[in-house]
Amino acid sequence: MSNREIPQFKWPALETERLILRKFTYDDLNDISEYASNPEITKYVQWEAHRSKTETLEFLNIVVEMYIKHRPAPWGIELKEEKKIIGTIGFTKIFPEEFSCEVGYTLSQNYWNRGLMTEALKKILEYGFDVMDLNSIIAHCIVENEQSAKVLLKSGMNYVKTVKGNLMVKGNMVDVKLFSLSKKEFKLLKY
Ligand SMILES: CC(C)(COP(=O)(O)OP(=O)(O)OC[C@H]1O[C@@H](n2cnc3c(N)ncnc32)[C@H](O)[C@@H]1OP(=O)(O)O)[C@@H](O)C(=O)NCCC(=O)NCCS
Repeated sequence: MSNREIPQFKWPALETERLILRKFTYDDLNDISEYASNPEITKYVQWEAHRSKTETLEFLNIVVEMYIKHRPAPWGIELKEEKKIIGTIGFTKIFPEEFSCEVGYTLSQNYWNRGLMTEALKKILEYGFDVMDLNSIIAHCIVENEQSAKVLLKSGMNYVKTVKGNLMVKGNMVDVKLFSLSKKEFKLLKY
């Protein structure tokens, strides 16, 4: 139990070797639509692939509203080399009593398996602990999503447990793996 209050969410630009994590703008609509319309990337997540640019615009409207209200919302992931938005990462849920947040992410299929999401997640963990001063950061993925579990483990998060039938994904209740990292554990990580 924490008696502190989670600070207002902010999305300063964060830089890694190959990426810039930054706020989305409406100029990113085409880039987002390009990857978010691919059903392959939504196979293991609760949201559906965008069927039109109007749906992408609706997504952007929600994100911008969250930016204005300082509520949990994603950073856009820009690939420096191509100056292109190729995914999202950010805090999706708050657990105020624990002073903890949940993290989630998506990457364009064209860029999978290059270590890019691991690079982005490490930066967000650093931001969550060093800047937001969170006690812990959690994440979950459905058991079939081995690629995502690998990203979490490679970033230093710890597998906690599997919860059976915990989440509704595409009409089925699925088993979910939970991962967590405490501030103490983060300080011991050597990236
Ligand atoms: C999950 C996701 C973000 C991974 O991004 P990424 O940039 O490809 O991740 P990385 O390259 O950092 O790491 C992926 C790892 O998974 C491994 N991998 C790829 N496919 C795999 C599979 N079918 N089974 C097991 N491991 C797999 C890769 O080899 C790599 O591990 P390695 O570095 O040890 O070789 C991306 O696939 C994605 O956006 N998927 C769709 C959305 C999604 O599932 N989001 C997460 C919801 S929990």
